[in-house]
Amino acid sequence: MDKFYITTAIDYVNGAPHIGHAYEKILTDIIARHFSQRTDNMFFLTGTDEHGIKIQKTAASKGIQPKELCDENAQKFKDAWKALDINYNKFIRTTDDYHENAVQKIFKKLVEQGDIYKHSYEGLYCTGCECFLNPKDLTEDGLCPDHLKKPEVVKEENYFFKLTKYKDAIIKHIKENPDFIVPSFRANEVLNQLEDIQDISVSRAKSNVQWGIDVLDDNEQSIYVWIDALSNYITALGYDTESVSEDFKKYWPADVQVIGKDILKFHSIYWPAFLLALDLPLPKHILAHGWITIDETKMSKSLGNVISPTSVLETFELKEPDAFRYYMATSAPCGRDGNYSDDDFKEKVNAHLANSMGNLLNRTLSMLVKYFDGVVQPKNLSLVDGAVELTKKALGTVKIVENHFNHFEVAEAAQEIIGIVDMTNKFVTDNAPWTLAKEDKMDECAQVLTTVLEVMCIISALIYPYCPNIAQSMAKQLSFDLSIKLDDLTADNIKEGKLISKEEITPVFLRVDSELADKSAKK
Ligand code: ME8
Ligand code: MG
Repeated sequence: MDKFYITTAIDYVNGAPHIGHAYEKILTDIIARHFSQRTDNMFFLTGTDEHGIKIQKTAASKGIQPKELCDENAQKFKDAWKALDINYNKFIRTTDDYHENAVQKIFKKLVEQGDIYKHSYEGLYCTGCECFLNPKDLTEDGLCPDHLKKPEVVKEENYFFKLTKYKDAIIKHIKENPDFIVPSFRANEVLNQLEDIQDISVSRAKSNVQWGIDVLDDNEQSIYVWIDALSNYITALGYDTESVSEDFKKYWPADVQVIGKDILKFHSIYWPAFLLALDLPLPKHILAHGWITIDETKMSKSLGNVISPTSVLETFELKEPDAFRYYMATSAPCGRDGNYSDDDFKEKVNAHLANSMGNLLNRTLSMLVKYFDGVVQPKNLSLVDGAVELTKKALGTVKIVENHFNHFEVAEAAQEIIGIVDMTNKFVTDNAPWTLAKEDKMDECAQVLTTVLEVMCIISALIYPYCPNIAQSMAKQLSFDLSIKLDDLTADNIKEGKLISKEEITPVFLRVDSELADKSAKK
């Protein structure tokens, strides 16, 4: 693998981030960190979507300028991603000058080559979606099915993009590349939408929408948010129709673009069409994740159940985001909806991260100190039944995990990792090193401990994308270098000789305190 380019959706800055946004950024960060263990050339892009009527209206309702609202909220997104250890390479804001200039050039090029034309239009516009709706998609009461609001009747002269021209090419691409849309069960939905696709409006009259990028040479129109927003994936790399940057040459096409299922149409129909019109290759995969609910209820401002990404860390007084990352990443199989609840969070991270994984390392190192003064004995794993098999199983799990990530199955991969942790716990129980020590079978006892430590090195590398801080702490106590590439992993990581002293042993993850959580729930 020579490079990996991964992107997230860029979030609207009309409000603060919530855990739905966090879910997407965590998933993406985990995929990025995993592939960083397979290539040195990683580019991970995220950012904020800052134009459009929704932002204009929110700013007006607060009596501030749109840019002021954008600055304020974009910072909240950046702060949240920092708290969650989202390790992006670049954060794009669609109000950045270089982006605005590039979008104007892209628009101009499409006008010049006849892919964009002017046309008078009357349609139903939903501000929540920032798009025109097809009357047949409305609810019985004439509301937007996603936002349950009545769309506005808009009659304007707009620029239109010839989406219909690209319809057949996109249908062909989806059919010939069954893994273009992940999970593949969503491809049919897109093919159905393609059946009755129309040319789309790509500008708004400035008399109605002021907060947007101006169309060059036309001071009455501003560029519609989706052509502006989608272009971020290439402008961030320095693309601008006239010059091709090194980063663009190196990273485009994207390896995977992570988005929520609600914006799949824009990413699997509009975006490919714009790219085809620009004569650029299409991204390799579009990963549409599911929806996160809170206590099985849709998050909404009116219900007052919107959870901020950092509030979970605050509630449980967590200094590091690892447990929250792990929980979110495993909340749903690939592409399915997931749920957050405090109780479930507590139960899962205590069981997996504290009881199974953390304890395993902690008690193994404690036994090494107790029986061998922290010194690893000369290695001879075959002295113990099942030891060599366990290390082979762990290395086999690396391949299984890689294969899951090839299909962006983040939760499924985590399950394999916890599977090998459970197997290792069973190996310790079955071989009872404390009994071996009591019976003075010190050679066997030593080999049981070494086996577990070898496997723990592999586990630390596998869990790293999900729980980078826990993994670092594990690796440190194992004197294991986490910068190793996954394909270079062996079962020969632990060196003979002094490994650790009693004072150096630290729990990698403390159980989430249940009383604390109950207290804050009552507040
Ligand atoms: O759609 N659960 O922005 P956005 C899971 N600016 N994911 C969720 C979610 C939830 N409850 N709520 C939102 C936009 N998301 C556009 C994107 S991309 C060129 C432009 C996801 O702030 C949503 O699916 O409404 C989307 O992928 C992302 O958060 C941003 O949503
Ligand atoms: Mg949305």
